[in-house]
Amino acid sequence: MSGNFNAYSSYYDLIYKDKDYVGESEYILNLLKTYGNNVQTVVEFGSGTGKHALLFCQNGLSVVGVEPSQEMLNIANNNSHPNLSFKLDTIATYKSDNRYDAALSLFHVISYLNTNKELREAFENVNKHLKEGGLFIFDVWYSAAVLNLVPEKRTKTIENDLIQVVRYANPINHWNKNIIDVNYDIEITEKNDKLKHHIKETHSMRHFSIPEIEMLAHVAGFQILHTEEFGTSNLPGPQTWGVCFVLKKL
Ligand SMILES: C[S@@+](CC[C@H](N)C(=O)[O-])C[C@H]1O[C@@H](n2cnc3c(N)ncnc32)[C@H](O)[C@@H]1O
Repeated sequence: MSGNFNAYSSYYDLIYKDKDYVGESEYILNLLKTYGNNVQTVVEFGSGTGKHALLFCQNGLSVVGVEPSQEMLNIANNNSHPNLSFKLDTIATYKSDNRYDAALSLFHVISYLNTNKELREAFENVNKHLKEGGLFIFDVWYSAAVLNLVPEKRTKTIENDLIQVVRYANPINHWNKNIIDVNYDIEITEKNDKLKHHIKETHSMRHFSIPEIEMLAHVAGFQILHTEEFGTSNLPGPQTWGVCFVLKKL
């Protein structure tokens, strides 16, 4: 269903093994408490391997994770909790009779939506699945910072007992589309026999300004309650690559 996160998904949790899912989940739970009204049910779009979703359930929420990559979903389904389930679908096409207290999309999922049409369909679909006053919280690449800091070629090396993974990221800037194509070349070396293989994936990431999100929110029936750097309370600006938005359904 999804064009990427296929073979890449096998190495996703290893590549992000140092990502602070516990701290991020506490941060989101705090936003839900601050801006929501007794949030209990959550739909998480782009739930990936299910790490945030499981932590939310362990903190008392009921969560449905929606994820378009079958490979990511297979890994997510290893997480087990009575109030946790996962569905194969996209943010724009998910259909359910449930109406949730909050919707989440974490770790740049919205930046994977590149066209205005996809974005509008996604925001309208999220709105449809929320109760009145429900929250939509997500983080995106922030234009001011992306244009100021400029994406660079990067190499990340990670390993476990069995393999070493080297991920080369080569970004191409499409200045007039607000899109960066991040071309990943991932080299996996088996430690026992030194055999190597490669995976290539391009992740096209759109970056956003606050007025752009304001417009989308307005068209889809939301208002922006709050924006800040993801994970901190810093004001969005030229140094804040990831910005978190808290929207409320009108
Ligand atoms: C960087 S990963 C984040 C996964 C997870 N939220 C996390 O924090 O680890 C981005 C995720 O967005 C998903 N995704 C991409 N396009 C999507 C879409 N149109 N609807 C829902 N999810 C999407 C990908 O399959 C992938 O799992």
